[in-house]
Amino acid sequence: MSKESINQYDTMAECYNLLMLGGYYDYQAQAQTLATILPPKAKILEIGAGTGLMLKELLDLGYQVTGIDHTQAMLDQAKNLLGSEVSLFQTDVTDFDLGQTYQAIISNGGVWYGVWWEDGKFGYCGHLPDQAEVLKSIRCVVRHIAPKGQLVLSMQDAHCNKIMDLPQDVTYEQRIHDKGNGVFEKEYIFVRNSNHERLCYQKLTLAYIDNSVFESALQAEGFTKPVISPDKRYMVFTAPD
Ligand SMILES: C[S@@+](CC[C@H](N)C(=O)[O-])C[C@H]1O[C@@H](n2cnc3c(N)ncnc32)[C@H](O)[C@@H]1O
Repeated sequence: MSKESINQYDTMAECYNLLMLGGYYDYQAQAQTLATILPPKAKILEIGAGTGLMLKELLDLGYQVTGIDHTQAMLDQAKNLLGSEVSLFQTDVTDFDLGQTYQAIISNGGVWYGVWWEDGKFGYCGHLPDQAEVLKSIRCVVRHIAPKGQLVLSMQDAHCNKIMDLPQDVTYEQRIHDKGNGVFEKEYIFVRNSNHERLCYQKLTLAYIDNSVFESALQAEGFTKPVISPDKRYMVFTAPD
């Protein structure tokens, strides 16, 4: 399988907003927290921007936003939501060069994110099952962060099987299959209740990332240890001068 085809959200793009706006994430609350972290009107890049739901909140708060994502079907929706003034690039996070730096780079449930374990400790997770690709993506992303800039990762509960009722008479189910060594498959299943029609289906291969691997890679680039927001929604690494 080519790198471009791994973990694209192509077959669930159509149902993505129904799930996210149906309660999976709370973008307004997340944006309120981000506004306490990011300098006002800062120039921000989101990696794994998806359909642009987070960028829209930040745009409305006055930030200058740009997004990258490797799934064209997700970016098409982002373009509709954000308009042509916002730059969106279809590219893989492990290999991109936008030729400029940003005051902050955000990953909101995107290519990497923090997870809360049941015991109150946290770890890292992401869409790059191969550790070498994780390290490549970190090196690529940090090149785009301005001196003293911020790398901001959302934090969420660790993945588990669950079922959610969504608007429009749709039920969402996610199933997790442990593959060992921190790697797991996640199935996203959307079914119309009235006729049991399967509306969207996607299977992704995700992976937890060792804390020491992720944090050491950033510290090798001169970044601080992560600071967690008081509401536990985000972690922030600050770049060197
Ligand atoms: C859960 S979605 C998050 C979207 C958005 N940040 C949000 O908050 O709604 C994860 C996104 O990461 C993108 N993604 C996954 N792996 C990627 C990669 N290697 N390079 C670029 N984007 C990637 C997917 O295409 C998807 O749109």
